[in-house]
Amino acid sequence: MALSIVRTAAALRAALAPWRREGRRIGFVPTMGALHRGHAALVERALASCDRVVVSVFVNPTQFAPNEDFARYPRTEAADAALLERVGAHVLYAPSVEEIYPPGDATRVTVAGLTETMEGAIRPHFFTGVATVCARLFSHVQPEAAFFGEKDYQQLLVVRRMVRDLGFGLEVIAVPTVREPDGLALSSRNAYLSAAERRAAPTLHRVLQTVAAGLRDGAAMAGLRPDAVRTLRDAGFAEPDYLDLRDAETLAPLDRLDAAPARLLVAARLGATRLIDNIAVQRA
Ligand code: PAJ
Repeated sequence: MALSIVRTAAALRAALAPWRREGRRIGFVPTMGALHRGHAALVERALASCDRVVVSVFVNPTQFAPNEDFARYPRTEAADAALLERVGAHVLYAPSVEEIYPPGDATRVTVAGLTETMEGAIRPHFFTGVATVCARLFSHVQPEAAFFGEKDYQQLLVVRRMVRDLGFGLEVIAVPTVREPDGLALSSRNAYLSAAERRAAPTLHRVLQTVAAGLRDGAAMAGLRPDAVRTLRDAGFAEPDYLDLRDAETLAPLDRLDAAPARLLVAARLGATRLIDNIAVQRA
C-alpha cells in the first residue's frame, strides 16, 4: 500500500474512516521529522501490532523556547516520506501550524509533578508544549495505540500520565533506544555536531554505563558523580544539566539501587548541541 500524505485533520479523518469501519487497529507515531533509524524502529514496532500506522511530522513551536532551535530544526519532508514509504507506514500526517494551533487558540495541557524536574526544570515550557501537541494529535488521529521512544524517557512518562488523566483510551507503547554502533543514541539533533564533537559524543552513553556498573556494585550516586562529570568534561562536554538516578515510574530521586526499577538519566551540552540519554539500571 502506498504512503498517503495528508495535511489537514479533515483529510486525515477521511483517509482513516474506511479502516475504522473495517475495525482495523490504528497505530500512531508522533515525530518532528528529520527521521532516522530510531523513528523507523517506532514505525516497525507499530506495524508489528497494528493494522494501519499513521506517522505525524510536525515541528511543534510550543515546545521550543525563544532561544532554542525551532527555526533551524531540520525539515526534510521528501526524505522523511521516502523513509516512511520504505518502512511501510500507511499515512504521513504533516499539518501546518494553523491546523494544530488555530488562530486565537487559548488551550494548553499541563502535567504536574513529573514535569517539574530534569528536562522540565531546565526547559520550563517544554512538557506543556509536548502534552498540548500530543493531545491535539491524539484527537486528530484517534489511534488505538501510540508509540514513544525510551530515548526521551521523561517525555514517555509525561505522555503516559496525560493519556491516563484525560482518558484518551489509547495504549502508550515504549520502544527501546536505537543507537549507533559506538553507543550514541540516534537523534535528529546529532546532525548539528561537528566531526570532532561527533567523535566525543558517545562518551555520554559510556559514562552512563560506567555509573550503572558502580551502582550495581553497591556505590552511591554521590560517590560516582564526580568522576562521571570529570570524564564528560575531559571529552568536551559542559557541566551536565543533570546526571540522576531516578525511580523508573515516579522519577523520584534515588542515591543507590534498591528493589524498585531505576533509570539513570543525563543531559549535557557538547558545544552548541544539547544531548540527552538514559538507561535502565537493575541490581545485579
Ligand atoms: P522527535 O524528537 O522527532 O521524536 C519522535 C519519537 O521518536 C519520540 O517518541 C522519540 O523518543 C523517538 N526517538 C527519537 N530518537 C530515538 C532513538 N534513537 N531510539 C528510539 N526512539 C527514538 O519527541 C518528539 O519528536 C516530540 O517531542 C513529539 C513527541 C513528536 C511531540 O512534538
